[in-house]
Amino acid sequence: MQTQVAIVGAGPAGSLLALLLHQAGIEVVVVERQSRDYVLSRIRAGVLENGTVELLRSAGVGARLDAEGHVHTETGIAYRAEEIFYFDIGKYAGSQFVSYGQTEVQKDLYEALDAAGVPILFEADDAAIHEPTGEHPYVTCVHGGEQVRIDANQVVGCDGFHGPSKDAIPHLRRYEKTYPFGWLGILSETPPLEHLIYANSERGFALCSQRNPMLSRYYVQCPLDDTVDDWSDDRFWSELMARLPQHVGDEIVTGPSIEKSIAPLRSFVAEPMRHGNLFLAGDAAHIVPPTGAKGLNLAVSDVFYLSRGLVRHYHDGDDHYLDTYSDMALRRVWASVRFSWWLTSLLHRFPDQTEIDQRLQEAELALIQTSDRAQALLCEQYAGMPFES
Ligand code: APR
Ligand code: PHB
Repeated sequence: MQTQVAIVGAGPAGSLLALLLHQAGIEVVVVERQSRDYVLSRIRAGVLENGTVELLRSAGVGARLDAEGHVHTETGIAYRAEEIFYFDIGKYAGSQFVSYGQTEVQKDLYEALDAAGVPILFEADDAAIHEPTGEHPYVTCVHGGEQVRIDANQVVGCDGFHGPSKDAIPHLRRYEKTYPFGWLGILSETPPLEHLIYANSERGFALCSQRNPMLSRYYVQCPLDDTVDDWSDDRFWSELMARLPQHVGDEIVTGPSIEKSIAPLRSFVAEPMRHGNLFLAGDAAHIVPPTGAKGLNLAVSDVFYLSRGLVRHYHDGDDHYLDTYSDMALRRVWASVRFSWWLTSLLHRFPDQTEIDQRLQEAELALIQTSDRAQALLCEQYAGMPFES
């Protein structure tokens, strides 16, 4: 099989890149290890920055998002048991945040790719990248019991944190930090709160989020060695309430969970994001803890920079944006990695935390609550930096 750009991984990064390149008349083939249904069953974060929304719209996949997404300006932070304040990203960053689940984004992308006839080889095993620094790199995999070889000019690794593309880059620098707790998340078919609310509590972090008017998403920080069997629905709801101001807890409509899972938290960056004709994008190159909801948005910003570089390469023979891809993407990546680490550190209870650490977190939250400038800085980062031109 011959193509111009071979993409490994059909999560949000690989799917959006494939769509944008196809729309620009560039041939792509995508290889995905899982089935389509499996990819669509993964529950991930669900908050989109303005830049993400704009790029999805420009790719023609914004209609359902515009119709069904819930636009937020204000987001709440609760602390010191009964204190809560709301920061207004519309006021400070002139921008919006939209709740629209990653699953829905993925569904819209697959529909657009199907309509455009872009080939995606689902359930492809043993994907491997060969000769990344040569003129003609290629990907091999096993698909439908047959050995497949895809010859390309460029290969893009969009294969997430566990995919093989990073390992095709010798001397890759890896920066990593893990956190001593996880997030236990549930979905319930109940009406969510109006606003997203993050909570710092002596009992640990909690988050109230949403998917649609009848689907809520809630999280509590939990020990890493807990399993979902340790958490009955009743235990989850009472722990969530105990971490929120009473008047917020009183507004929460509880119900049976329809999904429950525990995720570890990690900060990770791989540099550089290019090796010859192999490029990395999305979770393949970086992971952020979910506090701040930057994972999907960062994957989309990589795709913005990389698609621009590839389009200029094929249309104009101009390699400026391909050559600067790794540096440009990494500037945004490090800003988000720092922000996500900071917000995580500010809002969670660490196992070795003492009374003074708790008070210091609360003092910093009080500073944000009372200072316009501190809120402006928070909002600017929460809303997401604009893409560099
Ligand atoms: N061969 C082919 N595909 C692979 C392989 C492989 N060996 N290994 C992994 N993949 C696929 C995975 O099955 C997955 O569908 O690559 C895809 C990577 O998708 P994501 O993990 O969703 O990563 P990405 O597209 O970069 O999107 C980032 O997703 O993980 C969340 O929080 C993250 O929201 C962020 C976003
Ligand atoms: C979510 O809705 O799943 C969500 C929202 C905000 C976050 C993380 C996750 O910071």
